[in-house]
Amino acid sequence: MVVVGVYDTPMVNNAEEILPKYWYNIIPDLPKPLPPPRDPLGAEFSRIDLLRTILPKEVLRQQLTIERYIKIPEEVRERYLAIGRPTPLLRARRLEEYLGTPAKIYFKYEGATPTGSHKINTALPQAYFAREEGIEHVVTETGAGQWGTATALSATMYGMKSTVFMVKVSYEQKPMRKSIMQLYGGEVYPSPTDLTEFGKKVRKENPNHPGSLGIAMSEAIEYALDHHLKYLVGSVLDVVILHQSVIGQETIAQLDELGEEPDVLIGCVGGGSNFGGFSFPFIGNGRGKKYIAVASAEIPKFSTGEYKYDFPDSAGLLPLVKMITMGNSYVPPPIYAGGLRYHGAAPSLSLLMKEGIVGWREYNENQIFEAAQMFMRTQGIVPAPESSHAIRAVIEEALEAKRANRKEVIVFNLSGHGLLDLPNYDSMMKRVTSNEQR
Ligand SMILES: Cc1ncc(COP(=O)(O)O)c(C=O)c1O
Repeated sequence: MVVVGVYDTPMVNNAEEILPKYWYNIIPDLPKPLPPPRDPLGAEFSRIDLLRTILPKEVLRQQLTIERYIKIPEEVRERYLAIGRPTPLLRARRLEEYLGTPAKIYFKYEGATPTGSHKINTALPQAYFAREEGIEHVVTETGAGQWGTATALSATMYGMKSTVFMVKVSYEQKPMRKSIMQLYGGEVYPSPTDLTEFGKKVRKENPNHPGSLGIAMSEAIEYALDHHLKYLVGSVLDVVILHQSVIGQETIAQLDELGEEPDVLIGCVGGGSNFGGFSFPFIGNGRGKKYIAVASAEIPKFSTGEYKYDFPDSAGLLPLVKMITMGNSYVPPPIYAGGLRYHGAAPSLSLLMKEGIVGWREYNENQIFEAAQMFMRTQGIVPAPESSHAIRAVIEEALEAKRANRKEVIVFNLSGHGLLDLPNYDSMMKRVTSNEQR
């Protein structure tokens, strides 16, 4: 069975011109040099060497490059077209009217890809580079399942097997995502598992451990090492944001076509990949005046996290990177249904925040639930709970523009749709209703 592509015709006009030919790397344009990944002092093994073993070679090369533009292989561009890139840039007119704001609101709709989020933008090239090296089987972790789904489809598109370690609470709360991964041809395990030493250790300490993205990452890496597989990385690392830069570059071309100059750019942050992919091309080109990264108040990394060297994964198998972090052993509150549960934020984004170039907001579950409903009742699209964080900030910004009578242009990244997150919204609905009754 050969999966060639998904869409035969592009979703937008001028698809060929709008789809970029290069990925954009913000590293050479940062206001200060980015502190490099490093090994812990006196470490018994080198994490940097380990990275060389588990990443496809070209992915590692791109992770370490300081080139500003990297050519997108023609093969990958074709696949991007086949999964519906460029994604639409839409105007949220009903939301504007409902809010009575003089601001114009646009959103880049990454939920239009077949897997329902931006994650496939990097899963595809990573799978391609792995396949070019003759790899037949890739492994990764997933939280809510968006990344695992993108990996499973991309692996299948290149005729490879995939194994996904899925955070146990999500595995139990989101059986549909597991089904999709399996239907795409992936093999899915609830993490912590007994398949790795690290998983066994966590289970021994707490047999009912709900899992975390950090733990699932460590398991995927250990499994890749043990079985000589390649590991695909879903967020945080520079190479992932590099691949995601198709989002922002397309948005710039689409705004130019409309003759619009953006003022405010808004996105949500888990590890930082959709936010970076969307906003970095604007930041690097001096387009836009204000950039807002939005996280969850329940996983308050921006207000309480520290900017320091920390491990991206819980077992500490990956090199230390300097980022805003809550600590690599952080376990998010299991009942929180809004996503964005990762403990850190990408090093490049962390630096831009520390330098005061990117601002931030944090919203709680009630606030994002309200925003999601307002968006659904005005624009009709069910947003991913993660993306609802961005929507909340958009609403507040639009109301602020109304108070100040400012005709600004707000653009946000709708990183995914929420059609497979209805159990999350259900549990939010129950919690909100029971709070109201109290
Ligand atoms: C729809 C969606 N948006 C955002 C995120 C957050 O990740 P990142 O910050 O890497 O974009 C996720 C993570 O799984 C997601 O599924």
